[in-house]
Amino acid sequence: MSDAWTLSDTTALVTGGTQGIGRAIVEELLDLGASVLVAARTASDVEAQTSMWTAEGYDARGVAADVATPEGRAAVLDAVQAEFGGRLDTLVNNVGTNLRKPTLAYTLDDLRHLMAVNLESAYELTRACYPLLKAASGSVVNVSSVVGRRGIPGQAGYSASKAAVSSIGEALRVEWADKGIAVTTLEPALTATGFFQAQENPRGLPDPDMGNAVAADDVAREVLELDRAPRPLRSLRWKWRILGALSVVAPRLADRALVGRLGGDWRAPER
Ligand SMILES: NC(=O)c1ccc[n+]([C@@H]2O[C@H](COP(=O)([O-])OP(=O)(O)OC[C@H]3O[C@@H](n4cnc5c(N)ncnc54)[C@H](OP(=O)(O)O)[C@@H]3O)[C@@H](O)[C@H]2O)c1
Repeated sequence: MSDAWTLSDTTALVTGGTQGIGRAIVEELLDLGASVLVAARTASDVEAQTSMWTAEGYDARGVAADVATPEGRAAVLDAVQAEFGGRLDTLVNNVGTNLRKPTLAYTLDDLRHLMAVNLESAYELTRACYPLLKAASGSVVNVSSVVGRRGIPGQAGYSASKAAVSSIGEALRVEWADKGIAVTTLEPALTATGFFQAQENPRGLPDPDMGNAVAADDVAREVLELDRAPRPLRSLRWKWRILGALSVVAPRLADRALVGRLGGDWRAPER
Protein backbone atom coordinates (compact mmCIF):
# COMPACT_ATOMS: atom_id res chain seq x y z
CA MET A 1 0.00 0.00 0.00
CA SER A 2 1.37 3.42 -0.91
CA ASP A 3 2.31 5.50 2.14
CA ALA A 4 0.98 8.62 0.44
CA TRP A 5 -2.46 7.23 -0.07
CA THR A 6 -4.98 8.23 2.56
CA LEU A 7 -8.70 7.79 3.07
CA SER A 8 -9.04 10.51 5.69
CA ASP A 9 -12.30 12.46 5.33
CA THR A 10 -13.92 9.53 3.56
CA THR A 11 -16.57 7.12 4.80
CA ALA A 12 -17.11 3.42 4.16
CA LEU A 13 -19.77 0.82 4.88
CA VAL A 14 -18.62 -2.79 5.26
CA THR A 15 -21.22 -5.52 5.60
CA GLY A 16 -20.13 -8.47 7.70
CA GLY A 17 -17.31 -6.41 9.18
CA THR A 18 -16.99 -8.12 12.57
CA GLN A 19 -15.24 -11.30 11.47
CA GLY A 20 -13.04 -12.86 8.84
CA ILE A 21 -12.43 -11.00 5.58
CA GLY A 22 -14.85 -8.19 6.51
CA ARG A 23 -13.05 -7.44 9.77
CA ALA A 24 -9.71 -7.36 7.96
CA ILE A 25 -11.19 -4.97 5.38
CA VAL A 26 -12.43 -2.67 8.14
CA GLU A 27 -9.00 -2.61 9.76
CA GLU A 28 -7.32 -1.72 6.45
CA LEU A 29 -9.81 1.10 5.87
CA LEU A 30 -9.40 2.43 9.42
CA ASP A 31 -5.62 2.33 9.10
CA LEU A 32 -5.88 4.56 6.04
CA GLY A 33 -7.98 7.08 7.94
CA ALA A 34 -11.50 6.27 6.74
CA SER A 35 -14.54 6.48 9.01
CA VAL A 36 -16.10 3.03 8.82
CA LEU A 37 -19.60 1.77 9.56
CA VAL A 38 -19.68 -1.95 10.32
CA ALA A 39 -22.87 -3.96 9.82
CA ALA A 40 -23.38 -7.47 11.21
CA ARG A 41 -26.17 -9.34 12.97
CA THR A 42 -24.63 -10.07 16.36
CA ALA A 43 -25.01 -6.87 18.38
CA SER A 44 -22.47 -7.89 21.02
CA ASP A 45 -19.81 -8.45 18.33
CA VAL A 46 -20.58 -5.12 16.68
CA GLU A 47 -20.34 -3.37 20.03
CA ALA A 48 -17.15 -5.17 21.08
CA GLN A 49 -15.35 -4.58 17.78
CA THR A 50 -16.28 -0.93 17.36
CA SER A 51 -15.43 -0.16 21.02
CA MET A 52 -12.03 -1.79 20.57
CA TRP A 53 -11.28 0.18 17.39
CA THR A 54 -12.54 3.41 18.93
CA ALA A 55 -10.32 2.84 21.98
CA GLU A 56 -7.39 2.49 19.57
CA GLY A 57 -8.19 5.95 18.16
CA TYR A 58 -10.01 4.90 14.99
CA ASP A 59 -13.36 6.20 13.75
CA ALA A 60 -15.46 3.02 13.76
CA ARG A 61 -19.25 2.98 13.99
CA GLY A 62 -21.55 -0.01 14.13
CA VAL A 63 -25.05 -1.18 13.35
CA ALA A 64 -26.51 -4.54 14.31
CA ALA A 65 -28.61 -5.60 11.34
CA ASP A 66 -29.38 -8.56 9.13
CA VAL A 67 -28.69 -7.29 5.61
CA ALA A 68 -30.58 -10.23 4.12
CA THR A 69 -33.84 -8.54 5.18
CA PRO A 70 -35.45 -5.27 4.03
CA GLU A 71 -35.72 -4.12 7.67
CA GLY A 72 -32.04 -4.82 8.28
CA ARG A 73 -31.01 -2.92 5.16
CA ALA A 74 -33.25 0.00 6.18
CA ALA A 75 -31.49 0.07 9.57
CA VAL A 76 -28.12 0.15 7.83
CA LEU A 77 -29.19 3.06 5.62
CA ASP A 78 -30.52 4.92 8.67
CA ALA A 79 -27.16 4.40 10.34
CA VAL A 80 -25.32 5.80 7.29
CA GLN A 81 -27.49 8.90 7.60
CA ALA A 82 -27.12 9.18 11.37
CA GLU A 83 -23.38 8.45 11.57
CA PHE A 84 -22.09 10.04 8.37
CA GLY A 85 -24.79 12.57 7.51
CA GLY A 86 -25.57 10.53 4.42
CA ARG A 87 -22.06 10.63 2.96
CA LEU A 88 -20.78 7.36 1.56
CA ASP A 89 -17.56 6.96 -0.45
CA THR A 90 -17.08 3.21 -0.34
CA LEU A 91 -19.54 0.34 -0.09
CA VAL A 92 -18.10 -3.13 0.49
CA ASN A 93 -20.71 -5.85 0.04
CA ASN A 94 -18.85 -8.58 1.89
CA VAL A 95 -21.55 -10.60 3.64
CA GLY A 96 -21.90 -14.15 2.44
CA THR A 97 -22.85 -17.59 3.64
CA ASN A 98 -23.15 -21.16 2.45
CA LEU A 99 -25.24 -24.11 3.48
CA ARG A 100 -23.32 -27.35 3.43
CA LYS A 101 -25.81 -29.78 1.99
CA PRO A 102 -25.76 -31.80 -1.22
CA THR A 103 -27.95 -30.25 -3.90
CA LEU A 104 -30.69 -32.87 -3.54
CA ALA A 105 -30.99 -32.12 0.18
CA TYR A 106 -31.57 -28.42 -0.43
CA THR A 107 -35.08 -27.14 0.12
CA LEU A 108 -36.44 -24.17 -1.78
CA ASP A 109 -36.29 -22.20 1.48
CA ASP A 110 -32.59 -23.08 1.79
CA LEU A 111 -31.93 -21.72 -1.68
CA ARG A 112 -33.97 -18.59 -1.01
CA HIS A 113 -32.05 -17.97 2.22
CA LEU A 114 -28.72 -18.33 0.44
CA MET A 115 -29.81 -15.95 -2.29
CA ALA A 116 -31.15 -13.44 0.24
CA VAL A 117 -27.84 -13.33 2.14
CA ASN A 118 -25.41 -13.49 -0.78
CA LEU A 119 -27.27 -11.82 -3.65
CA GLU A 120 -30.21 -9.77 -2.42
CA SER A 121 -28.20 -8.03 0.31
CA ALA A 122 -25.58 -6.78 -2.18
CA TYR A 123 -28.08 -5.95 -4.93
CA GLU A 124 -30.50 -4.06 -2.73
CA LEU A 125 -27.91 -2.23 -0.61
CA THR A 126 -26.04 -1.11 -3.71
CA ARG A 127 -29.25 0.23 -5.28
CA ALA A 128 -30.27 1.95 -2.06
CA CYS A 129 -26.83 3.56 -1.68
CA TYR A 130 -26.80 4.81 -5.28
CA PRO A 131 -27.66 8.49 -4.54
CA LEU A 132 -25.00 8.66 -1.83
CA LEU A 133 -22.36 6.95 -3.95
CA LYS A 134 -23.15 9.20 -6.90
CA ALA A 135 -22.87 12.33 -4.78
CA ALA A 136 -19.46 11.16 -3.51
CA SER A 137 -18.23 9.71 -6.86
CA GLY A 138 -17.78 6.61 -4.74
CA SER A 139 -16.96 2.98 -5.30
CA VAL A 140 -18.57 -0.39 -4.70
CA VAL A 141 -16.55 -3.54 -4.07
CA ASN A 142 -18.53 -6.76 -4.22
CA VAL A 143 -16.94 -9.77 -2.55
CA SER A 144 -17.83 -12.73 -4.76
CA SER A 145 -15.81 -15.96 -5.01
CA VAL A 146 -13.74 -17.92 -7.52
CA VAL A 147 -16.73 -20.30 -7.73
CA GLY A 148 -18.70 -17.40 -9.23
CA ARG A 149 -16.67 -18.01 -12.45
CA ARG A 150 -17.19 -21.76 -12.54
CA GLY A 151 -19.82 -23.68 -10.61
CA ILE A 152 -18.51 -26.57 -8.58
CA PRO A 153 -20.18 -29.85 -7.60
CA GLY A 154 -21.59 -29.97 -4.07
CA GLN A 155 -21.98 -26.18 -4.01
CA ALA A 156 -24.49 -25.51 -6.78
CA GLY A 157 -26.53 -22.93 -4.82
CA TYR A 158 -23.47 -21.11 -3.46
CA SER A 159 -21.81 -21.08 -6.90
CA ALA A 160 -24.99 -19.71 -8.47
CA SER A 161 -25.31 -16.97 -5.86
CA LYS A 162 -21.70 -15.89 -6.38
CA ALA A 163 -22.06 -16.01 -10.18
CA ALA A 164 -24.95 -13.60 -9.70
CA VAL A 165 -22.83 -11.30 -7.53
CA SER A 166 -20.07 -11.27 -10.15
CA SER A 167 -22.65 -10.67 -12.87
CA ILE A 168 -24.11 -7.67 -11.04
CA GLY A 169 -20.63 -6.16 -10.95
CA GLU A 170 -20.20 -6.64 -14.70
CA ALA A 171 -23.55 -5.04 -15.44
CA LEU A 172 -23.40 -2.15 -12.99
CA ARG A 173 -19.89 -0.99 -13.77
CA VAL A 174 -21.09 -0.22 -17.28
CA GLU A 175 -24.57 0.93 -16.27
CA TRP A 176 -23.11 3.43 -13.79
CA ALA A 177 -19.99 4.39 -15.73
CA ASP A 178 -21.48 7.78 -16.58
CA LYS A 179 -22.51 8.32 -12.94
CA GLY A 180 -18.94 8.40 -11.67
CA ILE A 181 -19.37 5.29 -9.52
CA ALA A 182 -16.73 2.54 -9.81
CA VAL A 183 -18.11 -0.97 -9.39
CA THR A 184 -15.59 -3.76 -8.93
CA THR A 185 -15.66 -7.45 -8.08
CA LEU A 186 -13.25 -9.44 -5.95
CA GLU A 187 -13.23 -13.22 -6.29
CA PRO A 188 -11.34 -14.71 -3.33
CA ALA A 189 -10.34 -18.33 -3.15
CA LEU A 190 -10.33 -20.41 0.04
CA THR A 191 -9.55 -17.99 2.89
CA ALA A 192 -8.63 -18.72 6.50
CA THR A 193 -11.72 -17.46 8.35
CA GLY A 194 -14.50 -19.01 10.40
CA PHE A 195 -16.66 -19.14 7.24
CA PHE A 196 -17.06 -22.92 7.14
CA GLN A 197 -17.56 -23.29 10.90
CA ALA A 198 -20.29 -20.61 10.78
CA GLN A 199 -22.29 -22.54 8.19
CA GLU A 200 -25.06 -24.94 8.94
CA ASN A 201 -23.71 -28.40 8.18
CA PRO A 202 -26.56 -30.82 8.91
CA ARG A 203 -24.93 -33.72 7.02
CA GLY A 204 -21.60 -33.32 8.81
CA LEU A 205 -19.67 -32.72 5.58
CA PRO A 206 -15.91 -32.46 6.18
CA ASP A 207 -14.19 -29.08 6.44
CA PRO A 208 -12.03 -28.12 3.44
CA ASP A 209 -8.27 -28.53 3.71
CA MET A 210 -7.16 -25.07 4.85
CA GLY A 211 -3.53 -25.84 4.00
CA ASN A 212 -3.68 -23.61 0.89
CA ALA A 213 -6.01 -20.99 2.36
CA VAL A 214 -5.20 -17.31 1.85
CA ALA A 215 -4.98 -15.03 4.91
CA ALA A 216 -7.95 -12.68 5.41
CA ASP A 217 -5.52 -9.73 5.58
CA ASP A 218 -4.27 -10.51 2.07
CA VAL A 219 -7.84 -10.56 0.72
CA ALA A 220 -8.60 -7.29 2.52
CA ARG A 221 -5.60 -5.60 0.91
CA GLU A 222 -7.00 -6.57 -2.51
CA VAL A 223 -10.29 -4.86 -1.61
CA LEU A 224 -8.40 -1.70 -0.69
CA GLU A 225 -6.47 -1.87 -3.94
CA LEU A 226 -9.75 -2.15 -5.87
CA ASP A 227 -11.02 0.91 -4.01
CA ARG A 228 -7.85 2.88 -4.72
CA ALA A 229 -7.47 1.85 -8.37
CA PRO A 230 -10.74 0.31 -9.52
CA ARG A 231 -10.62 -2.40 -12.13
CA PRO A 232 -13.44 -4.63 -13.22
CA LEU A 233 -12.43 -7.89 -11.63
CA ARG A 234 -9.75 -9.31 -9.41
CA SER A 235 -9.60 -13.08 -9.08
CA LEU A 236 -7.31 -14.36 -6.37
CA ARG A 237 -6.63 -17.66 -8.15
CA TRP A 238 -5.58 -17.29 -11.80
CA LYS A 239 -6.17 -21.02 -12.38
CA TRP A 240 -9.85 -20.49 -11.54
CA ARG A 241 -10.04 -17.62 -13.98
CA ILE A 242 -8.64 -19.85 -16.72
CA LEU A 243 -11.10 -22.57 -15.70
CA GLY A 244 -13.93 -20.02 -16.04
CA ALA A 245 -12.81 -19.12 -19.57
CA LEU A 246 -12.34 -22.80 -20.45
CA SER A 247 -15.88 -23.52 -19.23
CA VAL A 248 -17.16 -21.22 -21.97
CA VAL A 249 -14.98 -22.31 -24.88
CA ALA A 250 -14.38 -26.00 -24.02
CA PRO A 251 -16.79 -27.05 -21.26
CA ARG A 252 -15.94 -30.78 -21.39
CA LEU A 253 -12.27 -30.04 -20.99
CA ALA A 254 -13.14 -27.72 -18.10
CA ASP A 255 -15.20 -30.49 -16.45
CA ARG A 256 -12.24 -32.86 -16.65
CA ALA A 257 -9.83 -30.24 -15.33
CA LEU A 258 -12.18 -29.43 -12.44
CA VAL A 259 -12.74 -33.06 -11.48
CA GLY A 260 -8.99 -33.67 -11.63
CA ARG A 261 -8.41 -30.74 -9.34
CA LEU A 262 -11.18 -31.55 -6.86
CA GLY A 263 -10.43 -35.25 -6.64
CA GLY A 264 -12.74 -37.25 -4.37
CA ASP A 265 -15.60 -39.19 -5.93
CA TRP A 266 -16.51 -36.65 -8.62
CA ARG A 267 -16.57 -37.90 -12.21
CA ALA A 268 -16.43 -35.94 -15.44
CA PRO A 269 -19.73 -36.44 -17.30
CA GLU A 270 -19.71 -38.58 -20.44
CA ARG A 271 -22.86 -37.13 -21.95
N1 LIG B 1 -13.71 -17.83 3.59
C1 LIG B 1 -13.59 -18.26 2.34
O1 LIG B 1 -12.95 -19.31 2.07
C2 LIG B 1 -14.19 -17.46 1.21
C3 LIG B 1 -13.78 -17.75 -0.12
C4 LIG B 1 -14.32 -17.03 -1.17
C5 LIG B 1 -15.25 -16.04 -0.92
N2 LIG B 1 -15.63 -15.78 0.37
C6 LIG B 1 -16.64 -14.74 0.59
O2 LIG B 1 -16.06 -13.72 1.40
C7 LIG B 1 -17.09 -13.09 2.18
C8 LIG B 1 -16.68 -13.07 3.64
O3 LIG B 1 -16.44 -14.40 4.06
P1 LIG B 1 -15.74 -14.75 5.46
O4 LIG B 1 -15.02 -16.02 5.24
O5 LIG B 1 -15.02 -13.58 5.99
O6 LIG B 1 -17.05 -15.04 6.36
P2 LIG B 1 -17.19 -15.16 7.97
O7 LIG B 1 -15.85 -15.33 8.61
O8 LIG B 1 -18.23 -16.21 8.20
O9 LIG B 1 -17.76 -13.72 8.42
C9 LIG B 1 -19.04 -13.36 7.99
C10 LIG B 1 -19.37 -11.97 8.51
O10 LIG B 1 -20.64 -11.59 7.97
C11 LIG B 1 -21.58 -11.34 9.02
N3 LIG B 1 -22.89 -11.76 8.51
C12 LIG B 1 -23.26 -13.00 8.10
N4 LIG B 1 -24.53 -12.98 7.66
C13 LIG B 1 -24.97 -11.70 7.83
C14 LIG B 1 -26.21 -11.06 7.55
N5 LIG B 1 -27.25 -11.73 7.05
N6 LIG B 1 -26.32 -9.73 7.82
C15 LIG B 1 -25.27 -9.03 8.34
N7 LIG B 1 -24.07 -9.60 8.60
C16 LIG B 1 -23.93 -10.92 8.36
C17 LIG B 1 -21.03 -12.14 10.21
O11 LIG B 1 -21.43 -11.61 11.49
P3 LIG B 1 -22.84 -12.09 12.17
O12 LIG B 1 -22.81 -13.60 12.15
O13 LIG B 1 -22.79 -11.49 13.54
O14 LIG B 1 -23.92 -11.52 11.32
C18 LIG B 1 -19.53 -11.91 10.02
O15 LIG B 1 -19.15 -10.62 10.46
C19 LIG B 1 -18.37 -13.89 1.90
O16 LIG B 1 -19.12 -13.23 0.91
C20 LIG B 1 -17.86 -15.21 1.34
O17 LIG B 1 -18.80 -15.84 0.49
C21 LIG B 1 -15.12 -16.45 1.45
